[in-house]
Amino acid sequence: MSDVTIGIIGTGMMGQEHIQNFNLLDGAQVTALADTDAAMLSKAAEMVDGSPILSDDFETLLGDDGPDVLVIATPNFHHIGVLDSALDAGKPILCEKPLCTTLEDTQKVMQRVGHNELLFQVGMEYRFKPALDNMIARVHGGDIGQIQMLSIREHRFPFLPKVADWNRFNRNTGGTLVEKCCHFFDLMRFIIGSEPTGVIASGGQNVNHLEEKYHGQTPDIWDNAYVVFDFANGARAMLDLCMFAEGSRHSEELTAIGDKAKVECLLPQNIVTQGNRETWEVTQDEIHVPEEILNAGYHSGATYHQNLAFLSAIKGEAEVPVTALDGHRAVAMGVAAQMAAAEKRRVDMMEVGL
Ligand SMILES: NC(=O)c1ccc[n+]([C@@H]2O[C@H](COP(=O)([O-])OP(=O)(O)OC[C@H]3O[C@@H](n4cnc5c(N)ncnc54)[C@H](O)[C@@H]3O)[C@@H](O)[C@H]2O)c1
Repeated sequence: MSDVTIGIIGTGMMGQEHIQNFNLLDGAQVTALADTDAAMLSKAAEMVDGSPILSDDFETLLGDDGPDVLVIATPNFHHIGVLDSALDAGKPILCEKPLCTTLEDTQKVMQRVGHNELLFQVGMEYRFKPALDNMIARVHGGDIGQIQMLSIREHRFPFLPKVADWNRFNRNTGGTLVEKCCHFFDLMRFIIGSEPTGVIASGGQNVNHLEEKYHGQTPDIWDNAYVVFDFANGARAMLDLCMFAEGSRHSEELTAIGDKAKVECLLPQNIVTQGNRETWEVTQDEIHVPEEILNAGYHSGATYHQNLAFLSAIKGEAEVPVTALDGHRAVAMGVAAQMAAAEKRRVDMMEVGL
C-alpha cells in the first residue's frame, strides 16, 4: 500500500509537532503545508522530507490533487472556518482540540461529520500519553475495583506566546477551561466510563498576563481553577489547575481511586504507582518511552500514539478513537465549568445540552 499523504493546515507549534511525529511513522508522508505566516511555513517545510506543496491558502489543499488526509492545527477560533470548507472535501480529518470554541459550532461539525459519513478524529491526545495509557488500562482492567474518585492536578507554566497572540483572549480560545482543560474533561469521561451530570467550579485570572497589552487590550484568560464534576454512575472527578506553578515536581498528577485500590500517574516523569487498600502496599513503575518519541514534541509521547491511531483508522484497522461527539462533549464540559465559576452556582449538564 502506498503512503498516506498528509496536509497540515496551521504549521505553528502543534502543526510542527504533527510533522515530527508523522516523520516517525511508517506509511505516512507529509506532502502539503498551509499557513498564512511565512516564517512558520518555512520553518515547518524544513522538517518535511522532500518538497511539500506550500500555500498561504488552506483551500488549495482540499482538492483531489491535494493530500489524502488533513490535519487542522490553526488557532481554536479558526477551526470552524477551515472545517466549513474541509468537511465538504470528503477527506479524513484530524482536528486539533478544542473542536471549536462554541457549542453551536461543535454541534454543526458533529452533524456534518455524521451526514457526510466522514472519518473524523479530534486531537484529544492526552489519552495517548504512554504512562497515562498504562494507568487507564489498570482502571479499565479492574485493578482498583469500581472507580469512585478521579483527581487531575495540572500545575505548570503560563500560556506560551503564540502567532499573533491569539491565545491571550477568551474570544479566540473559548476560555481556559475549554482551551486546555477540554483534555482533562475528555479524560474524566474516558477514564470513568460515564457521562457528567453537573459541575461546581471556581476560577479566574489572578496572576498571569495582567501587565500585557495587545492593541490596547489586557488579556482576559484565566490562570487557575478548581472544578468538580458529578458523573451518572456515582463517581466524581476534580480538576486542580494552576498556571503560575513553574516550581512543581510533577506538572500533572492523576489519581484514580476505586473500592479496592488507588492508582496514580505522575508526569512528565512517566511514573505509575498503585496502592492496595487491603495490604497498604504501594508499587511503583516507570513507563519507558523511547527518546525519539519523547523528543518529537512536548506531550510525553502522546502525539506519536495519537497519530498512529489515526493512521490505523484510515487504513480500516481500528475505529476512530476520539470522535466529533467526544470533542463536542469535552467542549460542553468546559463551557459548563466556566458558567459555574462565573455565575457562582452548580450547573446541570442539561443546561449545555448533555
Ligand atoms: N493537542 C495538544 O496538546 C495541543 C497543544 C498545543 C496546541 N494545540 C492546539 O493546536 C492548535 C494550534 O495551536 P499552536 O499552539 O500550534 O498555535 P500557533 O500559534 O503556534 O500556530 C497556529 C498556526 O496557525 C496559523 N494560521 C492562522 N490562521 C491561519 C489560516 N487562515 N490559514 C492557515 N494557517 C493559519 C498561524 O499562522 C500559526 O502558524 C490550537 O487549536 C491549539 O489549541 C493542541
